[in-house]
Amino acid sequence: MSSLQQRKILLGVTGGIAAYKAAEFLRLMQKAGAEVRVVMTPSAREFVQPLTFQALSGHRVYTDIFDGAADSAMDHIELARWCDLLVVAPASADFIGKLRAGYADNLLLTLCLASKQPVAVAPAMNQQMYANPATADNIAGLQRNGVFVWGPDAGEQACGDVGPGRMLEPEHLLRQVVELFAPGSLSGRRLLLTAGPTREPIDPVRYISNRSSGKMGYAIAEAAQRAGAEVCLVSGPVALPPPAGVQLVAVESASEMYDAVMTRAAAQDIFIACAAVSDYRVRDAAEHKIKKNAESLTLELVRNRDILAAASALADRPFCVGFAAETRDVEEYARDKLERKQLDMIAANRVGNGSGFEADVNQLDVLWADGGARIEQASKAEVARRLIDLVAERYTRALSTTEDSNER
Ligand code: PMT
Repeated sequence: MSSLQQRKILLGVTGGIAAYKAAEFLRLMQKAGAEVRVVMTPSAREFVQPLTFQALSGHRVYTDIFDGAADSAMDHIELARWCDLLVVAPASADFIGKLRAGYADNLLLTLCLASKQPVAVAPAMNQQMYANPATADNIAGLQRNGVFVWGPDAGEQACGDVGPGRMLEPEHLLRQVVELFAPGSLSGRRLLLTAGPTREPIDPVRYISNRSSGKMGYAIAEAAQRAGAEVCLVSGPVALPPPAGVQLVAVESASEMYDAVMTRAAAQDIFIACAAVSDYRVRDAAEHKIKKNAESLTLELVRNRDILAAASALADRPFCVGFAAETRDVEEYARDKLERKQLDMIAANRVGNGSGFEADVNQLDVLWADGGARIEQASKAEVARRLIDLVAERYTRALSTTEDSNER
């Protein structure tokens, strides 16, 4: 693979047991054609000798904020200008916190602050440190600032714990770098997406909702944006930051989601409905908090309009992709929705076995009129990436079929 030909990559290494894997990551990037230079933090040097990276990269390793200018042409600002991408792997919790806060007390942090190029971090830390709200907050803050966060993976850790916090494997990191530079399969396309749950008010303080966390939809938004699409994400209430570069339209109820989609759908190339929209709403939501005087309470529910079916019925309709979460007879129910709502594709979730609502993993049977493909269980980020590949392929095919029949 020479997909990184002519790319200049600055690899930052921070202190952590995963630092030894950075050597393999460096080698893979070089094999793919990139020129790589390495910057190490002081604590990274406790884990791996700079000489290792010097031998592999063929260049001196930058470690000290004050030694660059003395050395030669490359002071730290020049290094920041030199690269096309600055990727920090592994990125420790300490480094992530400092980067988020804008510290510049070592060379790598200074370079991140001074760089106009994309910055990516591959978190690696103990699972408890990763689960700490301060870390979650720092990672969300970095994402809001446009920093790419790759990983972490879950699994067995060097300390013996099991859980999320492992650095992504070097092959996986390489794929992320290649994707970042690849001309996207959805380049120049406009993509509208719904995600998360909706909330249907009962009174001013209570509502009907469901377990959708938004993780699947937000992962699709990120994958589509990486594939070059201009993404507009219409989202119900979730606790996730929108991916960098994605336009967020925040809504609460199904009716608000309907309006947000229908005012935009005709101008889009692709519409993906990943939201778990409440099928019903309370007919007359109370104006004031309902008092618990009565022994029983009856709520009358009325059907919500189907957003996906309405977008699909537009004269100037986008390419429409639906979702279906099913616990049984997955293909049968999904095919029924595909036909009834006149969709181009449907992604059927096999809910259960740890997949689907709220989970970090998912598996999909993606169906279209005369075929289908399975996406095996993987992280939602990986599932989203594969789904976007399929959407791009089917969309391009549909487009060329339409152009052919217009020419005839
Ligand atoms: O958010 P996560 O926790 O990550 O979970 C992801 C998910 C399980 C919610 C997601 O992957 C998923 O499957 N979403 C669809 C849930 C569902 O079962 O939808 P449905 O069968 O009620 O609706 C079918 C399709 O019509 C969906 O594309 C839905 O967005 C759409 N729909 C439904 C009702 C309605 N009023 N308007 C709609 O657009």
